[in-house]
This record gives sequence, structure tokens and C-alpha cells, in this order.
Amino acid sequence: RRVNRLILLLTMLVLAGCAGDRSILDPAGQAARDVALVWWVMLTFFTVVFIGVIALWLYAFKRKHHEHTAAQERKIARRWIIGGGILLPVFSVSALLMFGIPAGKRMLPLPLSEPPEVIEVIGHQWWWEVRYPGAAGGEVVTSNQLIMPAGEPVDFHVTSADVIHAFWIPRLGGKVDMLPGRVNVIRLEADEPGIFDAQCAEFCGTQHAHMDLYVEAVGREEFEAWLADRQGERLAELAVANDEFSQARETFVSTCAACHSVAGLSTATIGPDLSDIGARPMLGGGVLPMEEGAIQYWLENHQTLKPSNKMPSINYMDTATLESLGAWLETLTP
Ligand code: CUA
Repeated sequence: RRVNRLILLLTMLVLAGCAGDRSILDPAGQAARDVALVWWVMLTFFTVVFIGVIALWLYAFKRKHHEHTAAQERKIARRWIIGGGILLPVFSVSALLMFGIPAGKRMLPLPLSEPPEVIEVIGHQWWWEVRYPGAAGGEVVTSNQLIMPAGEPVDFHVTSADVIHAFWIPRLGGKVDMLPGRVNVIRLEADEPGIFDAQCAEFCGTQHAHMDLYVEAVGREEFEAWLADRQGERLAELAVANDEFSQARETFVSTCAACHSVAGLSTATIGPDLSDIGARPMLGGGVLPMEEGAIQYWLENHQTLKPSNKMPSINYMDTATLESLGAWLETLTP
């Protein structure tokens, strides 16, 4: 009874790993289903191989000793080498290839009758720059969040501004390296609207673990509306909408604007674009959830929350200044 319960508990623990925001075994798109299928085929195949090896091992213990002539020994050895050493691997690797090639092909940017949406994703130490060059009213730029249309293929053009990162949305498909000086393309599709987790999948420095990307697939109309809300003019109006924050804007322009852009106020590209920061679900690449006061908390503690991130400490500013800066940035919600 106790053993049964233990087995049940272990099974539940193992299966618990199959669901969740980052599980390849919980696919939400065709490319991810292909990856999951390859995974299950491999697991099944190698479980059979494992059981076979254990069975042979046990058989070798039990087997009665036979006297063989040298010629017979050679014959038996040759049979094992040809069967187990050549035929079995050739057969099994070819079988896996039959699953792998079409799966990989579907993630390539093959020509489509309708050209897909293109989203550019650029890795930085340690944040994500996301660009929409095809937006109807002109290019849209955001950071650390990726909104994509659901139910249609999207081509992700990925690259890096510094070291090697990797782009990976586990529930949508395979991962792809982000290399400085080169653009790699991966085609992914989300079946349904939903929120997916993504994470840099290549060690890229001390804060690699704090390089989360919020991914949300939405319907076509909602996607177009989201882009329209982020047109340069709309964002520039938003930045100067509240008169009470004129002091905060001055602080931003004299200090933060050296690295960050906010539409209408600055165009720097060293740090993340902040034009719609108030509407993002998290801060610092997943370090803090976005809530009231979170930006101020980040401004005061970012080197403790995310040590050695590239933003210099601004603790020399007084609390009132940081508070109004944080409060103003929170209003940047298209
Ligand atoms: Cu970027 Cu790891």
C-alpha cells in the first residue's frame, strides 16, 4: 500500500513537470507539437533500447557457458557488430530523422502565399528589444514584451547587440541562437490567444537568469489596435499628457535620456525603450511584477535586484525625485 502511494506520488511529481508555462510537453502551436512528438518518440525508443540492454545484461549472467571454436566466436562477434553496431543505429537514427526533418522544415521561413508578420527580436545584456517593422503606421518598438497575432505564422528575425543569446518560447517551438552580426529566422505560430513564457536560452552573463520575455498572442484585430496605440505620435502625446509631471520629465531628459528613449522626448537606444513601460507586465526582465510603486522601487534598488546590470545607480537622487520619476513612467500606458 505504502509502495503504491509512493509510486503515485512520484508519478504525479514527474507529470507535474509536463504542464506549465515553460513545458515543451504542453505545446500551443504546430512547431512545438513537432518538437514534443520527436521528444516522445525518442523517449519511447530509448526506453525500449534501455530495457533491451538490461535484458541482455541479465541474460549474460544466466547464460550457461558454451565452448566455441575461434571461428564460431568470430562469427558471433561479427553478428553483434553488424546487427547492434551498424544496422540498429542506422535504422534508429533514420527513423528519428523522418520525424526531425519535417519538424525542422516547418520552423524555416519557407515562402507562403500570404507573407507572414515579421517581428524583430534583439537580445541585449540583459533585456529584449522587440520591433514591428510592418506596423501599418510605421515601425513600433517595445522592450521585454512580445505581443504577436494568434492563429497565423509569424517570422521572428532574431539577432544580438552584444553577446550570444537564444530566443526560445518553449510552448511555441524550438529555440534559435541570437548572434551578433547575423539575423536568424524562425517561424512560429500560436494556435489560440494566450500568454506564453519565454526565457533567454543561452548563458549570456551574470544576469542570464533575469532575461525573461513576456509573450502574448492576441487576435488579429487586437494586435492591430495594440500597434496603433504605439504609433510615435500617440506615444509622444502620452509622454507630455500630465502637467503635474513636468519636473519628472526634466529629470528624465537630463539624466535617463542618455540611454533610454521615450517617444517625443529622446531617441537613445542603449537601454530599453520606455515609451509604453506602464503597460508592461514586469520590470527588469522578470525581476519585479509591474504594480504601483514598482518602478520607483526598481530605480532605488535595481543594482541589488539585478546586480551588475548595465544601468548605473541613481541613488544620488532624492526620494521625491525618484518617486515622481516612477509615477510619471507608470502613466506611460497607451
Ligand atoms: Cu541572454 Cu542568456
